Amino acid sequence: MNQEEIKQEIRRLARERDALLLAHNYQRDEIQEVADITGDSLGLSMEAARTEHRVIVFCGVHFMAESAAILAPDKLVLIPRLDAGCPMADMVTVQGLQAMKTRHPGVPVVTYVNSSAAVKAESDICCTSANAVKVVNSLDAQEVILVPDRNLGRYIAAQTDKICHIWEGYCPTHERLLVADVERALAEHPGALFLAHPECPPEVLQKAHHICSTSGMYDYVSTSPAQTFIVGTEAGILYRLRRDNPDKEFILPTARLICPNMKLTSLEDLLHCLQTLSPEVTVPAEVGARARVTLERMLAVPRD
Ligand code: 13P
Ligand code: SF4
Repeated sequence: MNQEEIKQEIRRLARERDALLLAHNYQRDEIQEVADITGDSLGLSMEAARTEHRVIVFCGVHFMAESAAILAPDKLVLIPRLDAGCPMADMVTVQGLQAMKTRHPGVPVVTYVNSSAAVKAESDICCTSANAVKVVNSLDAQEVILVPDRNLGRYIAAQTDKICHIWEGYCPTHERLLVADVERALAEHPGALFLAHPECPPEVLQKAHHICSTSGMYDYVSTSPAQTFIVGTEAGILYRLRRDNPDKEFILPTARLICPNMKLTSLEDLLHCLQTLSPEVTVPAEVGARARVTLERMLAVPRD
């Protein structure tokens, strides 16, 4: 089968299986093209929570499919590549978090969704890059523990009056973006705006005209009068930015902004997943029930 035939077969099988195809904004272009819904971590979690489809196929990384399985425990949740993980999510363990909680007794834990179900279960509330400051400010506490992303943690700390105890995890992909890359891109494109994801290091965020989640970038460019944007996040975001804004220019400041895990899923993997209805992502019931509370608390915090 050629690529077009595979895409048609994926769409046919999705209908036959009553499957909803979700794709993160960093997925390969052809996966985003064939998906029912593309979005950021928060948007896709919300879609998983409300879908009436029997099957959810999550094209993304493992923690995202796990969140879908937690929020939709009666659905069959599949991930085309079980080996698509998130190194940042692996940087915090339940034991490590318990030790931090012991050092800060009674302080609520705000956990970035880039984390395992077990770590979410050990937390008070989740956040994503789209709602992190709102989630922290919604808490009736003077101090918070923020895990696992130190860059998102520092970004939040700069925008809240609360004392923040920050875990030292990071995203290896966003960590590769250097101030020099941004300065070079801005010098080469006078008048361009630099958009950055809060997972970028603090010195890179200082250069940003606007800091937001991946879906926040789509919203921002659609209303901005600017013509050229330097995009400080993973390369997969360029596909829809360019498709939906053909008169605007989008520049990736370095070719190093590639998340290898997000790029694992191919059309062939997705086809195989729909043919075999595997691999399935499951969460033990007790862990899932506790993690669900933390995700639902987050979803209850109003969006803009
Ligand atoms: P978003 O929540 O902005 O989609 O980001 C998820 C992610 O993994 C960023 O690296
Ligand atoms: Fe994880 Fe970074 Fe990849 Fe996002 S871009 S999935 S945080 S490794």
